[in-house]
Amino acid sequence: MISKIHQILSLLLITLGLQACNPEPLPTSIVESDAVGRRVLPLPDPYSPLWAGPAVDETLQGSMEATRQLGWKIFAEVVEPISFVTRTNEGRMLRGQVPRFLTWFTAEDAQRWFRYALQQSRLSMIEAGQPLTDATIHDADLFLARELDTMPEPLQNRLKTWFEQHPEPTLQDWSGIGGTSRIYYSPDMIHAVLQNYAELGKCFEGLKRPSALEESSSCFTREWPRAAAIVKAAWWNGKSPLKTYPTDAASLQKLMQTPDGSWTQLAQEQAMPDSMFSVNVGSAQLFLPGLHIMTKDQKDWVWITAWWSADPDGDFGSDRPDFIKDLGPLFHRYKICAVTRFQDDAADWDELAQKYPDLVAALNAARNGNPGASWCSNPYLEFGAHNQRTNCIGCHQFAGTDARQENILQDAIQFPQHGSRRQRSTFVTDYVWSAALGGQSLHQLIYRNLNWRKTLPEK
Ligand code: HEC
Repeated sequence: MISKIHQILSLLLITLGLQACNPEPLPTSIVESDAVGRRVLPLPDPYSPLWAGPAVDETLQGSMEATRQLGWKIFAEVVEPISFVTRTNEGRMLRGQVPRFLTWFTAEDAQRWFRYALQQSRLSMIEAGQPLTDATIHDADLFLARELDTMPEPLQNRLKTWFEQHPEPTLQDWSGIGGTSRIYYSPDMIHAVLQNYAELGKCFEGLKRPSALEESSSCFTREWPRAAAIVKAAWWNGKSPLKTYPTDAASLQKLMQTPDGSWTQLAQEQAMPDSMFSVNVGSAQLFLPGLHIMTKDQKDWVWITAWWSADPDGDFGSDRPDFIKDLGPLFHRYKICAVTRFQDDAADWDELAQKYPDLVAALNAARNGNPGASWCSNPYLEFGAHNQRTNCIGCHQFAGTDARQENILQDAIQFPQHGSRRQRSTFVTDYVWSAALGGQSLHQLIYRNLNWRKTLPEK
């Protein structure tokens, strides 16, 4: 309990600290999710895989049109507002909506979920590394939703106050109630990782990671389920003017010709538009100008990224399907790119160019940044020199190894084409960087909490 209070206090301090020590608004912000949000939001809503064909599918991967159309469907599935009903402290029933990915697990949620699951499991079972039972998984999901009820009253009062301040919450209010995070994991993904905690937990010795350029086995005995999906979000503080980035053929041509160029080169400032999805967190309004999505619809994942555009129907928005309109006006102005493999050898460029000349002109300009490799990059998430030339999958192949991002982007000898080329056939953490990178990784989360479990008396 003490550590719980400590955790909540430190979250409050982080939130207050953001306001107190930084009179200048920060351009991007993160406020951690918490038990108040979980009490109100629905249980993490599964990602439903959208590709019915095989896990390595040439008809999909050989077609840029099919890849992009799947990309749009995945974008829609991930941001689609889902409806729920919740009861206020006074017993009033309120109907709410949030984009699906905001119901998913943050690392914070995963930590509380895992602690509960470990507490519910016998120590002998944990010491033997046996998987968590399905019943424990089910109970831990419910625990997360009800955790607030087990907490001290002052914390419960935060929810009461929130309802008082928001008698008729909007989509933005509901979406901000849990704070925001950088990464969101679909429930099937977190269940698979934490159920088999021993695999990732025991995969590494201390901070040592396998070498980037030598094959080494995966931490996992099974592929992650097709319903595995992960979102990485860029949140933008609404008090700062927005930077926008043109992605038409001429702009990209210029950008790719500059030897040490980066997205910054194309940045244009404009007032914050109200046609972009945002969340209200406390007194802050955080906008979502960009989001990365990876889904296990294919063995090597499907990689999609979306960015808000001041010119939404040009280039990477010209093939936007009509169903995007059903998502509501806050989601109409995003453009996307999508890739399913390392190399750039789709067979349908000519047909696509006939249908969407604007799009193919822009894609051709982008592909010139790294001839032969596929391309997909987001100005709101890919910072630094050369990162505008990359293709997601290339850099992510090194996840779980000792490769450093700066080297992947800069060291042309070890990582040709800024890491976009295929250099491995084994994937230590199945392309997921946050599985084993840094102190906040899933590996650390498992490792820390397994040690903590050993200090508890047996039930
Ligand atoms: C140069 C390396 C690099 C490139 C290029 C890159 N990423 Fe990542 N990505 C990372 C690293 C490192 C992390 C984990 C740390 C963090 O949060 O930034 C990450 C995190 C993510 C995550 C959260 C899950 C995870 O792996 O930790 C998603 C989703 C993601 N990236 C998608 C994409 C997409 C989509 C693209 C292409 C548009 C892309 N990435 C391009 C390095 C890269």
